[in-house]
Amino acid sequence: MIVIKTEKIKKKIKNYEILKGIDFQVEKGEFVSIIGASGSGKSSFLYIIGLLDPPTEGEVYFKGSKIDFKNQPKLADIRNRHLGFVFQFHYLLPEFNAYENVMIPIIKQGISRKKAKERAVYLLEHLGLGDKIERKPYEMSGGEQQRVAIARALANNPDVILADEPTGNLDSKNTEIVMETFLKLNNKGITIVMVTHEMDLAQRTSRIVEMKDGQIIKDVLSADLRY
Ligand SMILES: Nc1ncnc2c1ncn2[C@@H]1O[C@H](COP(=O)(O)OP(=O)(O)O)[C@@H](O)[C@H]1O
Ligand SMILES: [Mg+2]
Repeated sequence: MIVIKTEKIKKKIKNYEILKGIDFQVEKGEFVSIIGASGSGKSSFLYIIGLLDPPTEGEVYFKGSKIDFKNQPKLADIRNRHLGFVFQFHYLLPEFNAYENVMIPIIKQGISRKKAKERAVYLLEHLGLGDKIERKPYEMSGGEQQRVAIARALANNPDVILADEPTGNLDSKNTEIVMETFLKLNNKGITIVMVTHEMDLAQRTSRIVEMKDGQIIKDVLSADLRY
């Protein structure tokens, strides 16, 4: 099943073309990494397929339905129910502890506080943070904070996780913990699209897409990696 598909996506800012007509699709269960030099358009593209930003031209399809970027409530609904986001900086709320940070998007779906807390705690336990659920972000290591952010991304049981340099701010030990977490989630069937500039991480995913100057210049499955 194709989860995300784009047709001739262009993004222009003023007269400058950041994305130059991208055709792309992701099948359910894939772990795709997007690599490429800084400024090649990786984040811009990820934000468009994450329905956070409209393209200037072209179409995005989510599970076969064409996205109407003018329909904000519908966009938010798809994002909240089907997509989970992880960024380079975790954006956890500093005044809330780990389980409260994870509960927030669950409560927003209209679930009771009690059920939301149960799910938050379950997710944190699953990510090896069972003994840290009451810690505030500043009381945790970078890798732990990023795992809380991953738990939050998983809060509403998304089909797809979109991650923009999720290890960009982490040392090698915490990078490994986050990468193993993603690999485990992918083994359980969650589709992942991850922007990274670390080639050794990309090589552990099932497919590598390379961008350059707003275009995809290489798209290879791990089985026939030529890197
Ligand atoms: N809001 C914006 N206004 C102007 N230029 C932008 C904006 N967002 C991105 N760009 C430019 O678009 C290009 C692609 O950026 P980006 O998608 O962030 O690349 P990457 O994530 O690969 O580093 C860069 O040249 C960047 O400077
Ligand atoms: Mg970027």
